[in-house]
Amino acid sequence: MNIRLARIDDLTGMQACNLQNLPENYTMRYYLYHALTWPQLSYVAEDHKGRIVGYILAKMEEDVGSDDEPHGHVTSISVLRSYRRLGLAKRLMIQSQEAMATIYRASYVSLHVRKSNRAALSLYKDTLGFTVKDIEKKYYADGEDAYAMRLSLKHLA
Ligand code: ACO
Repeated sequence: MNIRLARIDDLTGMQACNLQNLPENYTMRYYLYHALTWPQLSYVAEDHKGRIVGYILAKMEEDVGSDDEPHGHVTSISVLRSYRRLGLAKRLMIQSQEAMATIYRASYVSLHVRKSNRAALSLYKDTLGFTVKDIEKKYYADGEDAYAMRLSLKHLA
């Protein structure tokens, strides 16, 4: 499985993957906004035929207060069911994190995840070293709480 930078012509494949995997979905305009504004931060995993089997959609945080440092944010990541537990999500996260730190001088990366999402929580906490910064009550449309998580990228800068 190959991991590479996402291109504009990958966006429909990324959106299809997202629709299969997650209830949090986005307009094509929002995918385009990511790809045009931060073209180095989103990646895809493709199979041997070039079909997209996983993606990470990421950006730099825009609402940075005067006391906050520049930081990246993972809008969405997912991998198609039959390609899970192969290390793809870990590789997608690491590629994006490295680009956030080296290209945009991000000092940390943030994300939100459902409290009930065991697989993603294990990826973030156990494999990548994220910590829970906050709990955002009823963050999701169905009322579920989110963990707001962070990982320092200072060692990469
Ligand atoms: N149960 C427990 N731990 C898991 C699981 C699982 N089902 N899946 C991954 N992990 C942990 C393990 O520690 C794993 O390491 P190991 O396989 O050596 O034990 C580690 O994460 C790395 O796993 P990967 O193989 O890199 O993860 P994968 O490619 O399978 O993708 C993902 C993980 C993205 C969470 C996948 O299960 C998925 O697409 N789920 C549905 C969509 C989703 O929940 N996305 C995240 C939403 S939050 C957000 O987008 C910011």
